Amino acid sequence: MNKRVEKALNDQISKEAMSSQYYLSMASWAECNGLSGTAKFMYTHSDEERFHMLKLIKFVNERGGKAIIESLEKPPVSFKNLESVFAELLAHEIRVTDSINNLVDVCLQEKDYTTHNFIQWYVSEQLEEEALARTVLDKIKLIDGDSGGLYMFDKDLENAAIASNGVSIEPNQN
Ligand code: FEO
Repeated sequence: MNKRVEKALNDQISKEAMSSQYYLSMASWAECNGLSGTAKFMYTHSDEERFHMLKLIKFVNERGGKAIIESLEKPPVSFKNLESVFAELLAHEIRVTDSINNLVDVCLQEKDYTTHNFIQWYVSEQLEEEALARTVLDKIKLIDGDSGGLYMFDKDLENAAIASNGVSIEPNQN
C-alpha cells in the first residue's frame, strides 16, 4: 500500500476513534441529565463512529498495510446545554469532513483509485451526518428552551436512534 495513503488512512482511523469517544461522552452526559432519547441517539452515533473506524482498519490490513491503534485524548466530560452539545457535534463533523476531503486529495495525488473508491462511502456519510446535525440544531433553536418542546425533541431523537441501527463494517457495504 502507498505509504502516504496508509498514513492518511491511519490518521483517519484515529479521528473516527476520537469521534466515537466524543459522542460516548455526550451520551453519558445526556443520560446523567435526564435526556434519555438524546443519550440513546449519542450511544448509537458513538457505535456508528466505531464502525467507521473498524471499516478503515479492515481495509488497510486487507490491502497489505498496517492499521495503527493510537491512544486517544480525553473528550470533554460536561456540556453547557443541549444546544452546545449539537453545536460541538456539528463542528466536529465539519472537521472530519475536511479530513476525509484531504484523504481524497492524497488518493488522487498518489493515483490510488481503489482507496479513492472506498473513501467515497465516507464522503456520502459525511454529507448525511452534517445535514442531520444541522437539522437537529435548527430544531433545538426553534424550541428555544421550552420544556414541553424539549421533551418531544428528546423522544424524536430516541426514534431516530432506533431507525439508524444496523451498520456493516465490511468494506464498500453500508
Ligand atoms: Fe465517521 Fe461522523 O465521522
